[in-house]
Amino acid sequence: MTGHVYVTRLLTDDAMDAVAALGLPVVAGREVPPSRAELLRDAVGAVAVVSTLTDRMDSVVLDAAGPSLRVVANVAAGYDNVDLAAARARGIVVTNTPGVLDAATADLTMGLVLALARRIAEGDRFLRTGTPWVWGPRMMTGLDLSAGATLGVVGYGRIGRAVARRARAFDMQVLATPTRAHLTPGERAEVEFRDLPQVLALSDVVTLHCPLTAATHHLVDDAALSRMRPGALLVNTARGAIVDTDALVRALTAGRLGGAALDVFEDEPHVDPRLLALEQVVLTPHLGSAGNRTRDAMCTLAVHNVAAVLAGQEPLTPV
Ligand code: GLV
Repeated sequence: MTGHVYVTRLLTDDAMDAVAALGLPVVAGREVPPSRAELLRDAVGAVAVVSTLTDRMDSVVLDAAGPSLRVVANVAAGYDNVDLAAARARGIVVTNTPGVLDAATADLTMGLVLALARRIAEGDRFLRTGTPWVWGPRMMTGLDLSAGATLGVVGYGRIGRAVARRARAFDMQVLATPTRAHLTPGERAEVEFRDLPQVLALSDVVTLHCPLTAATHHLVDDAALSRMRPGALLVNTARGAIVDTDALVRALTAGRLGGAALDVFEDEPHVDPRLLALEQVVLTPHLGSAGNRTRDAMCTLAVHNVAAVLAGQEPLTPV
């Protein structure tokens, strides 16, 4: 087989070892994303590209790679950065890394729910100002999750379900939007399915776990936000563009929404300065899957997908 494996970013050590074990020439990127010009240059003649969510794998890149390209292995559960139709038209297999990051992403989501509800980040920022303080009965109170608070899960796939399990351990009620995922009767019984407007209207905390597609772009817009309970909280660890940032800022500044926790951003890595200025907003830099073992599992799974396709086998996790 001629051609190289292009790994757009420096992966974990184990995954880089797995890349070397493929026995093909390797062109490896750095810790920072390649520029568009570097992406186009290093893709030329590749048989496989291990891409990340920061790489726009569109028809231009696929054409730059040329007819040698057999597989794009994206190191992410999400694949909105890959033009699937263009890949399909060129006979290129696309794989992602579902499953191995559910727990890590759900953990971060629950951390953000807690940070918002119990004002953890706000309290931390407050202490760092050096302002004198003393414990008080009315000081920095927030939402009690275990007092019957309702979590609305938008997108009840693997990650949504992992979040729901954690929320139930906190004695929260869980509502979710209907799913086509295969669920056992037991899994169906432990959640109440409602349509999106009802999930929005009935939840104290709404958390997003749907993929970003044309149908979910700006799913949370002015109309959706206006359906949410006054003072409700919004958490997004899915993709930034599922939320209309302008609408979110309007709802937060008008005080209609109690707060928002965002791990992902519309124009990532740019973070809208209006969000930075709001006290009731918790922000993290796309850390959903950032557990040491989880990242290793994601990177290694992507490389194993490449190995399978290049060996003429079915990929482990095709999109
Ligand atoms: C991360 O955002 C992922 O999609 O895996």
